[in-house]
Amino acid sequence: MKRKVPFLSILAIVWCVGASAQKKPAAATPQLGKSPLKAVIKAMTVEEKVRLVVGMGFKMPGASSAPKKKETGTTAVPAATPPAFTLPPIDPSDDIPEKVPGAAGRTHAIKRLGIPSITVSDGPAGIRIDPIRNGDSSKTYYATAFPVGTLLASSWDVNLVHKVGVAFGNEIHEYGADVILGPGANIHRNPLGGRNFEYYSEDPLVSGSMAAAIINGIQSQGVGTSIKHFVANNQETNRNSVNTIVSQRALREIYLKDFEIAIKASHPWTVMSSYNKLNGPYTSENPDLLTTILKKEWGFKGFVMTDWFGGRDAVAQVNAGNDLLMPGTTMQSKAILEAVNSGKIKMSQLDANVERILNIVLKSPEFKKYKYSSKPDLKKNAAVSRMAAAQGMVLLKNDDKALPLKGKKVALFGNTSYDLIAGGTGSGNVNKAYTISLIQGLANGGYSVDANLKSAYETYINDAKAKQPKNRMSFFMLPPPIPQMAITPDMLSQEAESADVAILTLGRNAGEGADRKVENDFNLMDSEQALIKNISDAFHAKGKKLVVVLNIGGVIETASWRDQVDGILLAWQPGLEAGNAITDVLSGKVNPSGKLATTFPVKYEDEPSAKNFPGKELPMPEGEKPNPMRGHPAVVTYEEGIYVGYRYFTTFDVKPAYEFGYGLSYTKFKYSDLKLSSKTFNGSVTATVTVTNTGEVAGREVVELYVSAPVATLQKPEEELRAFGKTKTLQPKESQTMSFTLSAKDLESFNTAQSAWVSEAGTYTVKVGASSTDIKKSQKFDLPKTIIVEKVHNVLKPEMQIDELKK
Ligand code: BGC
Repeated sequence: MKRKVPFLSILAIVWCVGASAQKKPAAATPQLGKSPLKAVIKAMTVEEKVRLVVGMGFKMPGASSAPKKKETGTTAVPAATPPAFTLPPIDPSDDIPEKVPGAAGRTHAIKRLGIPSITVSDGPAGIRIDPIRNGDSSKTYYATAFPVGTLLASSWDVNLVHKVGVAFGNEIHEYGADVILGPGANIHRNPLGGRNFEYYSEDPLVSGSMAAAIINGIQSQGVGTSIKHFVANNQETNRNSVNTIVSQRALREIYLKDFEIAIKASHPWTVMSSYNKLNGPYTSENPDLLTTILKKEWGFKGFVMTDWFGGRDAVAQVNAGNDLLMPGTTMQSKAILEAVNSGKIKMSQLDANVERILNIVLKSPEFKKYKYSSKPDLKKNAAVSRMAAAQGMVLLKNDDKALPLKGKKVALFGNTSYDLIAGGTGSGNVNKAYTISLIQGLANGGYSVDANLKSAYETYINDAKAKQPKNRMSFFMLPPPIPQMAITPDMLSQEAESADVAILTLGRNAGEGADRKVENDFNLMDSEQALIKNISDAFHAKGKKLVVVLNIGGVIETASWRDQVDGILLAWQPGLEAGNAITDVLSGKVNPSGKLATTFPVKYEDEPSAKNFPGKELPMPEGEKPNPMRGHPAVVTYEEGIYVGYRYFTTFDVKPAYEFGYGLSYTKFKYSDLKLSSKTFNGSVTATVTVTNTGEVAGREVVELYVSAPVATLQKPEEELRAFGKTKTLQPKESQTMSFTLSAKDLESFNTAQSAWVSEAGTYTVKVGASSTDIKKSQKFDLPKTIIVEKVHNVLKPEMQIDELKK
């Protein structure tokens, strides 16, 4: 017989169970930062992990964050992310509003576990955010446009670049972002590269040292960086689809090398993989690149994120160790979730990616609840920008002391003089409050410019701009350049009569999404050639000089016109204080001390990569239609191998217009007493050299140390830059002794057959000079026995045969 349990007894049992449950609290949910990281990861559901490795969505750059007015007249609340890419939140409270309008992306928050969302923002020359929010212009959020990467590298001054990093990092911190999407460290392989301005140099030592300096500066302020685009992303044409074919040696010695130097010396919080394929797979889908080389060989501890919508296969990306997919789409989350459930992604892999992301979240200002002001000291940072800009300008020509300027009356020609270019376009652009034009800069420096000429130029430029086509893709497509205003003979002779000197600025702009062209870009436009000739004739007829200022982001042709001018100042794209910084150098307030970190060839065809840039387009696969965002299937083969830039010009005896490492000063320097610590290499060798200012004004000299290695098993370039330094400001007659220590690593080459870095036995020549060809002193030492410096993995083999250039 069944015993009946009285109702009250049941109630009593339920109450007791409830009471005991209350006494013994359920195990608390682990919290990021309070609980061990492993416990937090263990507590995450698969969906939460997937959520963390896929970014939060995307807003088209430049799209306003201002709320749209509804027809009724009420104001709509801005969506956190546009619906097309929004992932439905697991918990609605995780769908947090955008923190820094205009920033490029965010990670997901998982509030249950105390995981906040972190914000990443472009770009390499300043934080790229919306300057005006919600249509309210009473408060603005302008950022400092620092000089572009190529200018910073031309300073050859790592301390200066570190200082820029500190100012930049502070601005990122104060505007509430966690990670800046920079620096850009791709090698200048070809002068037409559309994003070369964002990058540093053709040489991996200069590039890697500059990247390390800015990363260390930025990260000293408690925010992170994302060194990009990893790797061999040296062109914009078909950037999302091109298969870049490079030998293992060229990869190791040139294209990977600068990332290796920077990552080991500065530990960036994150690395951004590139859009292109490399020897087959997409870089973001390649475990040999991201896990074997980056994480295992180099010991990188941060996380890897994709470039925006980069690669195709989310599952392959997760498995490759591309920890975060940016900006993140619903499709990617779905694919990853399915792959975890089906075993195509192992939980251990997903956990490893999650752990790397969380380790960085833990360091972020957002996690630390930093109360950012949105009021960085823009005045102070503009001063840093101006100072750095002047230090990175390169004096290419100065016949008969055309500079510093003598008189105070300047005839100012060239559209760009009135509308200077602070930096390039695309994600490398910065929303700055102003750009000081050259006419303003000259006026601030006490120079006078003819008012008629000024108003003629201003009217001409305004009219030409008004006529430019407005296109919807303007983020990627630059408007066509404005031809030079024709100067009437009357105007010209009037100027030549009244002014002390003529200054002509030539400008160039470029940016992501397109490479530059040879005609009317690398080569001058006809209107520019004509202007140079006319001004030169008119001013020289009066015994007056013409100085050209180059306001460019990449290399141009100079050999055909330079004989007609007296001075050339390469000002690059110098940031928002452009006109003031150029005037600082023109006037002599700052003695130029920059040197070229990239060769200027006589003609485009002299470039070793010219016949393989930007590669060949391949037929569209059946059934696929061309997609402007994806580009065309294409392949580019780096046939020049390791002979990039001066490695080619010096080895194959091709004379450039201005060689790597070249730059003039208003003073002169003498090099003396090059001494080596030993004539036999024994673990290291130290070179010392004395540099003396033998001119009349104070100045700084960049000292370059090249090494010519013995050719035994491997072919070698004629010489390679192995160390460099910059003197302090030397007063006339003052000297400084510079010291450089070379270790076995500074002598190595990559031996593909052995998958090893090797320093081969033989005689090495240390050459110290003022440029790659202006060698002032040299000394030799012997390495008695070949040293295997490091064995590495035999990975990233090209999938097709390369007919590489041989010496
Ligand atoms: C660029 C990256 C940039 C990202 C986010 C991409 O198109 O290649 O350099 O950081 O967009 O804006």
